[in-house]
Amino acid sequence: MSLKRTEIAKILANPTIGETVLVKGWVRAFRSNRFIALNDGSNFGTIQVVVDFENFDEDIIKKIGFHAAIAVTGELVESQGKGQSLEIIAKEIEILGECNLDDYPLQPKAQTMEFLRSNLHFRMRTQTMSAVFRIRHGVAFAVHQFFNDNGFNYIHTPIITGNDAEGAGEIFHVSTFGANEAPLTEDGKVDWSKDFFGTKTNLTVSGQLQGEIAAMALGKIYTFGPTFRAENSNTSRHLSEFWMIEPEMAFADINDDQNLAEDFCKYLIQYILDNYQPELQFLDQRIAKLEKNMKAELRRPMGLIDTLNFVVENDFERITYTEAIRLLQGSKPYKKKRFEFPVEWGEDLAAEHERWLVEKKFKKPVIVIDYPKQIKAFYMKMNDDDKTVAGMDVLFPGIGEVIGGSERETRMDVLKARMAEYDIPEEELEWYLDLRRFGSTPHSGFGLGFGRMVQFITGMGNIRDVIPFPRTPGNAEF
Ligand code: 4AD
Ligand code: MG
Repeated sequence: MSLKRTEIAKILANPTIGETVLVKGWVRAFRSNRFIALNDGSNFGTIQVVVDFENFDEDIIKKIGFHAAIAVTGELVESQGKGQSLEIIAKEIEILGECNLDDYPLQPKAQTMEFLRSNLHFRMRTQTMSAVFRIRHGVAFAVHQFFNDNGFNYIHTPIITGNDAEGAGEIFHVSTFGANEAPLTEDGKVDWSKDFFGTKTNLTVSGQLQGEIAAMALGKIYTFGPTFRAENSNTSRHLSEFWMIEPEMAFADINDDQNLAEDFCKYLIQYILDNYQPELQFLDQRIAKLEKNMKAELRRPMGLIDTLNFVVENDFERITYTEAIRLLQGSKPYKKKRFEFPVEWGEDLAAEHERWLVEKKFKKPVIVIDYPKQIKAFYMKMNDDDKTVAGMDVLFPGIGEVIGGSERETRMDVLKARMAEYDIPEEELEWYLDLRRFGSTPHSGFGLGFGRMVQFITGMGNIRDVIPFPRTPGNAEF
């Protein structure tokens, strides 16, 4: 009877010492023609395979190289050496897939993130990316766990839609009209009524407005899906295609919204601390190595794991936008004219201002609420001062905004006036107004940028390195 393959994670969890096992995996390292570090994706680490090269053909030994795929049959024993508790004494080795290093872009040495980005189809095989994508999975799982435990229903909002929720006009059109062959109306404009959906459509920028429909029926809902924005920002925090999580709660105000946001962020981070220690330790050491030769002021104030623990253990600071402006105007960089962008009531906070608040002033996550109405979306609830809206941004160290949210405007006259200010035709959003006409209640929600949260938890410097296939201006490979 032929032996069945066992996954390395299963062997480590439940070692059957003295028995013969069959493992299959990729060679991470082969030291002294004797010790193979074998990984099969079932865990982050490796199992050691001991090869007595006198028992094997030279031809096979030569092919056991970095990232070659092999099958090993051998006896599972307690390890004699340091650094691991178990090892497999190889009896048979089969080469499943050779990996010739002369032609292979990856090499058994540190390679830059930029280089790896130009080899996306091999990039996931590196230890750094393996840690990142295992954690990315863990965060996604924890998102569903958190909301399920708290009575929220997962809603699939459409990816193709006719609306631009944020009203920022940064949309990708969806059309079956070929280039230069769109039918025109009499006045020479594109006749969208003849297009596939009979109307002008785009990829969604947010599932919020449809999420509000669901919250008005199911009470507490969340979306978790891809969103698309054609903003031409080539930063380390922006993608053109990114995943967003948007909870929406009926009978909830801006305070409930802030509480949910803080609980949710802490839950996700704690889940990774509890379940992904080997990956986190690897990433922590990676950052320490990267920062070793940096000037002290460029280094992070704390290691990765310490930062994550700190965020979980401390209350987020909560301030108003007006207070934030006052603090910024009293700050050293403001007085020394070191901020590039203006700090003035009514202007949006720039990344440099957000980072000063989080990293210099409070040294922890900060929730800013009550922004000037002119810099926030039409749907946010107008405050009594008639100048600010009940919107919030959650700002994180090293990242800036991870969450944007608000209490929603439910007063029909105020909402219509806001839509008019933004030139949003009422006909386009009759269904949204209907939610206010029939059985309306106060409600609130927010959007968490999934990639930005994964970036924070993994400590990666660029959001392009936490999504398998990044889409950015000029890039849509694979
Ligand atoms: O602040 P935003 O634009 O909020 C909304 O879309 C609301 N409809 C959410 C809601 O209330 N339901 O986006 C939410 C979050 C941001 O805080 C940021 O973390 C992330 O989405 N985000 C991006 N992440 C990566 N690349 C981009 N281009 C992003 N734009 C926004
Ligand atoms: Mg925002």
